[in-house]
Amino acid sequence: MEDRIKSIQTDFDNEIAVVDDIKKLEEIRLKYLSRKGLVPLLFEDFRKLPSDEKPKYGKTLNILKNVVQQKFDDVKNNLEMNASGKKSTVDLTLPARRNEVGSLHILTQTLYEMKEIFKGLGFSVYEGPELESDFNNFEALNFPADHPARDMQDTFFINENFLLRTHTSPVQVRLMKSKKPPLRAIMPGKVYRNEAISAKSYCLFHQVEGLYVDTDVTFAELKGTLVAFAQQFFGENVKYRFRPSFFPFTEPSAEVDIWWEPKGKQGRWLEILGCGMVDPNVLRNVDIDPEKYTGYAFGMGVERTAMLRYGITDIRTFFDNDKRFLTQF
Ligand code: PHE
Repeated sequence: MEDRIKSIQTDFDNEIAVVDDIKKLEEIRLKYLSRKGLVPLLFEDFRKLPSDEKPKYGKTLNILKNVVQQKFDDVKNNLEMNASGKKSTVDLTLPARRNEVGSLHILTQTLYEMKEIFKGLGFSVYEGPELESDFNNFEALNFPADHPARDMQDTFFINENFLLRTHTSPVQVRLMKSKKPPLRAIMPGKVYRNEAISAKSYCLFHQVEGLYVDTDVTFAELKGTLVAFAQQFFGENVKYRFRPSFFPFTEPSAEVDIWWEPKGKQGRWLEILGCGMVDPNVLRNVDIDPEKYTGYAFGMGVERTAMLRYGITDIRTFFDNDKRFLTQF
């Protein structure tokens, strides 16, 4: 019995190895696997064995049957695939596909970080629309019609009354109109200016506005808040200066510069934000009593701040969406 099993296995192996068409394969099936084939015959003989011999052969017989069937099926599949002209679609020589994972844009990361710092200083977050009324963007902020200060910001007008906001300050107006003091919030978002595009300016950028209105808010508090921000964002040893400035909606007004010294290059002051005490006229425009309340406001450029921190020299790279730039952060 054992010899027969072995010889059938060897014969089958030799014959199946040289099969190259369906007809020859069918002959093999008839010879080994059909009802009167060699393998079923073996099983028949097995049944006739005395029962004390059965355990000895049962297992090998089953293995034989499975192996023969498996090889037969494999060869059959291959032949059929070749016949229908199809090639296996699996090419094991191809290099593996890399799984690319996205990441947050450097501006988003910077914004998140700014928000966290200001939340730590007690500010909440408030947002307004990018399409604004002339009233909120200019009029309520103490820019009278035809006032030359409007020229400070080149505006994309939609029509006579609506425009793309040129700064986030109109969100101050919205906040003061919708809620009563005390108010303490930052207002992040996109702003638009109709400027010639260059390494320094783009038609679109981001600002984070800040506003604090309460009884007895002082300029000293404004300075303290902005210095605390600068030290958390740029590091304890950041070099900064407050420089007198002008905005129609703040009085007095200032700008804050940060000392920027790229390795091996001449250092210089770079402006990152404008700020000041909310002008009493603005408070009056939104029905807050300037005799009772005072406030401070600031607005910082997000791109400017990120450029300074990461040594980016061209503002346009933020908007090119070139992965070589984006993946560096
Ligand atoms: N809105 C001003 C700008 O865009 C910045 C600013 C905000 C100044 C708040 C003072 C107070 O330049």
